[in-house]
Amino acid sequence: MSSIEKAIERLDRTAGHKDADAFAELNRDDAPEARREPEREVDPSAVYRLDLKGLERRGFLTPDGLRSKTAEEYRMIKRPLLMNALGKGAAPVDRGNMIMVTSALPNEGKTFNALNLAMSMAMERDSTVLLIDADVVKPSLSQLLGMENRPGLTDVLVDPQLDIGDVIIGTEIPKLKVIPAGRIHSHSTELLASEDMQRIANELSERYADRIVLLDTPPLLVTSQASVLAHLVGQILVVVESGKTPQSAVTEAVSLLDKSKVIGMALNKSRRSFSSDYYGGYYGYYGQ
Ligand SMILES: Nc1ncnc2c1ncn2[C@@H]1O[C@H](COP(=O)(O)OP(=O)(O)OP(=O)(O)O)[C@@H](O)[C@H]1O
Ligand SMILES: [Mg+2]
Repeated sequence: MSSIEKAIERLDRTAGHKDADAFAELNRDDAPEARREPEREVDPSAVYRLDLKGLERRGFLTPDGLRSKTAEEYRMIKRPLLMNALGKGAAPVDRGNMIMVTSALPNEGKTFNALNLAMSMAMERDSTVLLIDADVVKPSLSQLLGMENRPGLTDVLVDPQLDIGDVIIGTEIPKLKVIPAGRIHSHSTELLASEDMQRIANELSERYADRIVLLDTPPLLVTSQASVLAHLVGQILVVVESGKTPQSAVTEAVSLLDKSKVIGMALNKSRRSFSSDYYGGYYGYYGQ
């Protein structure tokens, strides 16, 4: 058994507490399956408690918001991604369970969408989610979750003693696990392009066919890191800020991507207010 398997088993064993039941209960589609799960002994100290109320106040999807319009919008966005990830799409997608969220330019909503998608996917019956902060230069996902001082991806890439399984954090949402970015490192592009990163991606993608690995990444037109990471995944969700990102920027960004990957687009911030229905709800495949 690999160290990833051991770590994930350890986390899975500790995750089935009360919040999990409430969470599953709220999710109409998945509740019957979740109820069949046996009761487990829980060590609450092993589970990272997210500031769900704080996230909710900032417009994020949380277990309490499963009937909201935002939840409905993310259901639409996640469906095709999950179909491809779980091999239920029209054609098999190589590494379909590794999905990166990116955009052409900064501030378009990558992190916002990555976290909301992860929350939404974690409510699924057939999948669990490992959310990775792969924006190792600007680790805003780690900050958002209060995990900025935890060891993470870069630490595993620089320290041969550390295994990726050591930095996976189980959360109170039983099907959501997180790998923070780790310490900021001056050679982060080289680290992400390294053979070790390739090996880690292989292991994460192949060990668990039902595990969705979701990467929050930097913008494509600002650093080369996102296009480096794109080689590791099977699906790429390009977030486009409505009314702001020029079409030429989107075209240029997509031109950097390998067209053998499944590339989806999500139009973000399509309404001009920060409300629960701020998300545009548009989702489509590039070139279709
Ligand atoms: N659909 C949305 N509804 C409400 N707020 C949003 C939405 N999308 C993004 N935001 C907000 O806009 C800001 C920028 O979003 P976010 O950090 O997700 O962008 P990003 O593309 O990850 O930026 P960066 O390029 O710096 O990584 C954040 O304050 C975020 O909470
Ligand atoms: Mg971001």
